[in-house]
Amino acid sequence: MGRRTATRVVVALAAGLASAPVEAQGDRALGEYLSSECVTCHQLSGRYQGIPPIVGWPEQSFVEIMEEYRSKKRDNQVMQTIAGKFSKDEVAALAAYFGSVKPKN
Ligand code: HEC
Repeated sequence: MGRRTATRVVVALAAGLASAPVEAQGDRALGEYLSSECVTCHQLSGRYQGIPPIVGWPEQSFVEIMEEYRSKKRDNQVMQTIAGKFSKDEVAALAAYFGSVKPKN
């Protein structure tokens, strides 16, 4: 992680703390920042285009599925690799962000 990236994560964290002090377990602003890595494949619109949509899910289910990829209980190499890169807090942040996005169709 470069200097600039690190700074942006800190900014995202600070923004998350300021805007959502109690409500969610996951830091939605951090999740939005991290989501750039997901939306190249997963459509934010919630449309299915060969890859399943991941928006509007309950946070708990989202976290559980990421955990299943990470522990290789779910069989998909791309997602296993991706899930393995994120910490618990980061997965919670992604869950909070994607859970807050409303599917458009
Ligand atoms: C290179 C493309 C790609 C990227 C990038 C990617 N995914 Fe996926 N993801 C997939 C594919 C393909 C599947 C379906 C895998 C399967 O059949 O189990 C999937 C499945 C999932 C599922 C389960 C969906 C379901 O309906 O069961 C979740 C949750 C998920 N991805 C989250 C993420 C998150 C969070 C990120 C970013 C950190 C991400 N993905 C990045 C390709 C990608």
